[in-house]
Amino acid sequence: MCSIIGYSGVGKAAPLLVGGLQKMEYRGYDSVGVATLNSGKLLIRKGIGKVEEVNKSLGLKEMSGQLGIGHTRWATHGGIIDSNAHPHSACTTNLAIVHNGVIENHQELKEELLKKGHVFKSETDSEVIAHLLEHYWALKNDIKEAMMNTCNRLRGSFAFVAVFDDSTLCAARYDEPLIIGITAGGYFISSDVLGFLDYTDRAIFLDNRDIVLLEGNNLSIIDFDGEKVERTPTQVAWELADSDKGKYAYFTLKEIYEQSHTIFKSMQQKKESVETFCDIIANAKDVFVTGSGTSYHSALLAKHILSKYSQIRVETVVSSEFQYSSELLDENSVLIAISQSGETADVLQSVKAAREKGAKVLSIVNVTTSSLARLSDCFLEVKCGPEIGVAATKSFTSQLSIIYYIADTIGGNLTGISTNRMELSKAIEKSLELESKIAEFAAQIKDAKDIYILGRSNHFPICLEGALKIKELAYIHAEGIAAGELKHGPLALIDKNSVVIILNPDDSTYIDTLSNAHVVKSRGARLIGITNKPHLIYDYCIPIPYVKESLLPMLEVIPLQILAYHLALHNNANPDYPRNLAKCVTVR
Ligand code: G6P
Repeated sequence: MCSIIGYSGVGKAAPLLVGGLQKMEYRGYDSVGVATLNSGKLLIRKGIGKVEEVNKSLGLKEMSGQLGIGHTRWATHGGIIDSNAHPHSACTTNLAIVHNGVIENHQELKEELLKKGHVFKSETDSEVIAHLLEHYWALKNDIKEAMMNTCNRLRGSFAFVAVFDDSTLCAARYDEPLIIGITAGGYFISSDVLGFLDYTDRAIFLDNRDIVLLEGNNLSIIDFDGEKVERTPTQVAWELADSDKGKYAYFTLKEIYEQSHTIFKSMQQKKESVETFCDIIANAKDVFVTGSGTSYHSALLAKHILSKYSQIRVETVVSSEFQYSSELLDENSVLIAISQSGETADVLQSVKAAREKGAKVLSIVNVTTSSLARLSDCFLEVKCGPEIGVAATKSFTSQLSIIYYIADTIGGNLTGISTNRMELSKAIEKSLELESKIAEFAAQIKDAKDIYILGRSNHFPICLEGALKIKELAYIHAEGIAAGELKHGPLALIDKNSVVIILNPDDSTYIDTLSNAHVVKSRGARLIGITNKPHLIYDYCIPIPYVKESLLPMLEVIPLQILAYHLALHNNANPDYPRNLAKCVTVR
């Protein structure tokens, strides 16, 4: 998604804005722009590319002024061209805005404004905000009224920050995150605390329909009807600021390596929260689990784990489809929403649908200040630290370790996650030691057009996750297939050019999966086994150490993550910032 930021204070705005944008770049990296106010004049510089590149070519950090706004874009309306980059001004340059979200009625508003003589310079939905503000400001010369009138005309989701040439900075939110950062010398307003956490840990989390007015050091918050709103500042955890690559070339690699210890942190939950969480599940008539992308794969595993180890019947529905299948929910149901960011629009929509039916909402979420955490009856914290790489890695294994932990709390330690966690951690470390071998192997298959990943039972969600990682990071078509389904269609695709990876650990699925391997091999495919019981059928074997059977999924995803990462490098893709994707998808 887009990231937005505003600053007003005693410091030079541009370097602070650019630094904040760099920290939030995971939200979108199609284009970048900054507007600053200097001696009553607004200066806008913007262009396509990542923050570092655009800063180099346009000198964003050199822009003068102590007041400004900034933006990184994940394109939704309008192509990736300079004129669609934010900030957007209106007909005159007496104001500029940056926006995150989608203005659903932008066409209708644009037609109305065109009739009034406004001239548009971009293809974006966002530009209508600038023109509406200009229109209402000109009408009464009152910025507060202009903000209220504008917000009341917009439909859809939005968080925007506006800078006016009389030195006022304003912002508003509806269904998109927006947070104020309070420093001794001024204020930040941004999409994520990462935008200002290098400077302050004091923050105000704004709610829907909040408007912020900042004139000099004077901050006030009102709602869309002009009523004053009180919001209490809170303290944000400083450890969120730990977002450096350290010795690693990319965040993604760093985050893959962190997993041998992040899986522990997620098991350190508040006792009362775990009790409440588990009681709600155990007493529910029915339990639904939802999530998007990687978090959906955690939800799929939750179904296996909770049913097998704690006898809880669970229905898993991917978040983008949940609203179409929520008829069965009622006040005795519970929805468990899983999300790293806690801001994914599809997940929040599922929560809304569940709430409308009176169901309880539990969540497993990494960002505890997120909308999801705040909308839940109870949440458990993923605690894997900031995940910057757009493709999820460590948040996945940490989500899984919480799910195992819940299953053990309800079912009586049958998964063994607590007792076997040292063994699991060591096994993950051993798998990480395979990196250079996996990198060599990645070089051999880097030109593959299609990669299939096969597995059964609780290994199937890992096949889906492995395939997702390869698609996201290396731009190679990859498909996770339930191994038993091969004969019902996918086998027609297999020939000597196919690369097939098989999750074939030594458990109850071993024999059946091995026979699938034989079928694939007889069609001439190149066969890779990820297993703790190697077999000669495999052209290449990635050996995984022995761990308790129930915990195998958490281990076997590691070599797949490493493989996807190295395929990305071999194919000259930036693993941290896959093309066309964003870490936090706040549109539906
Ligand atoms: C985006 C990201 C994925 C992520 C998904 C769900 O699509 O690119 O990596 O798995 O959102 O994100 P969440 O924050 O809800 O877990």
